[in-house]
Amino acid sequence: MNKRKAIPSHGQPAETILAQMKEMKSGDPNWADGRTWSLVYHVDDEHRALMQKTAQLFISESYANPFAVESIQRMELGLIGMTANLLNGEGSATGTVTSGGTESILLALYAYREWAHSSRTGKKKNEIVAPATIHPAFEKAAHLLGLKVRKAPVDHLSRARIEEMEKLITEKTLLLAVSAPSYPHGTLDPVEAASELAQQYKLPLHVDACIGGFFLPWVEQLSPGSIPPWDFRLPGVTSISADTHKFGYGAKGSSVLLFRSMDYLRHQFFITTDWAGGIYASATLLGSRSAIPIATAWAAMHSLGQEGYLGITRNILDGCARLRLGIEALPELAILGEPCMNILAFTTRQNKPDIFVIADFLEEKGWVVDRQHRPNSIHLTVMQHNLPAIEPYLKDLQEAIAYARNNPDAKARGNAALYGLMARIPLRSMVANNVRQLFEQLYGAETAKSESPSGASSQQMPNPPSWMGWLNRLLSGWRK
Ligand SMILES: Cc1ncc(COP(=O)(O)O)c(C=O)c1O
Repeated sequence: MNKRKAIPSHGQPAETILAQMKEMKSGDPNWADGRTWSLVYHVDDEHRALMQKTAQLFISESYANPFAVESIQRMELGLIGMTANLLNGEGSATGTVTSGGTESILLALYAYREWAHSSRTGKKKNEIVAPATIHPAFEKAAHLLGLKVRKAPVDHLSRARIEEMEKLITEKTLLLAVSAPSYPHGTLDPVEAASELAQQYKLPLHVDACIGGFFLPWVEQLSPGSIPPWDFRLPGVTSISADTHKFGYGAKGSSVLLFRSMDYLRHQFFITTDWAGGIYASATLLGSRSAIPIATAWAAMHSLGQEGYLGITRNILDGCARLRLGIEALPELAILGEPCMNILAFTTRQNKPDIFVIADFLEEKGWVVDRQHRPNSIHLTVMQHNLPAIEPYLKDLQEAIAYARNNPDAKARGNAALYGLMARIPLRSMVANNVRQLFEQLYGAETAKSESPSGASSQQMPNPPSWMGWLNRLLSGWRK
């Protein structure tokens, strides 16, 4: 007997459905109160209303074929042009709008692979050389494309070490990649040196500016000279990914991938001519594409204008400076890396007190805490809606430190303990298997039948299997 829930036999009224969804949503993190330091790139209610109206306007369109819907085509080309202008790609730079950072990175790698393989000598090129801090999207893309990421160690400020990257270059190297900035610590890699290296070895260089692409240009305008050039001004940079669904302030689902010229981009296009449905061609990864992400990103740029972006960036940078000062005033804490924009990661000196005890305390105070490892730390991205929460956060952070100081034997609990444990397990395949089990549990037929995940969510790990408890006890003796 099929026990799965069927589509309701009778449709329900819109109000009932909306009420049900609001009820489901009530358990989600309330990002609007500023206690969530990531994921939502909010400007203000007025901007949000424009995004909603724009989404309504383009709810039905399908952008499978870029020649079929002129309005969306114009907006996509507009976004490409404005982004190329912002990132100093005047002249030949061009690209496409994708569904997000991961797709942009995947397509960049794909285009370079096809470009290299189109020449007789490039057939064995299948490695990407990047710093250890590069976003996992590169590894995912490499995995899907049959490529390999070779990671070079970073320096004490978590910047790419170009001489270490150079050591990994072989005849198999397909491209180099660096971040502007990297996500964990908000550190800008030395892109100028990477550009020279790329030119020296005649290799393409991708700059992952997924998070910084629509933020760093305004930082540069607000304080000229504060950031070294990192975009198409550098002759070795051959492509850049910049996410419009992050600091471009469009709705989720869009990013711009730019190449220095059509010489690379043309290898991204997929065309097949023999299908019974007709000639099929697509410029990006997806088939049918929603028009909404493109339209909202376009509307965001036209509504905010350069003045708007500059104003928001100024506010955020002011807030971020206050937050940083507050963190640095606590002698137990240290900022990691060399933050160049509004991303801060901090830890405790010699992990005393345990940073995850601080994380637990903050969580109990109602903050959504992003934990990182290697080294263990707390990650913050300051958005406009976080600004009123900065002082309350610093107050709770002070309390957390005082608590940890007075309770030196306190141990990280719950998720933090599990996360800390996972970070410490030397056999990474064991950790990966455990995470895979969580996914299997979430997407397994049993969960799908009940329609409610068995405790698993993106924020919360479900209970670990029993062997994890055993392992935890075993490893606890090794902890500092
Ligand atoms: C530097 C960097 N690269 C790539 C990505 C991946 O972007 P997305 O999550 O939109 O796929 C992110 C996401 O935060 C990022 O910060």
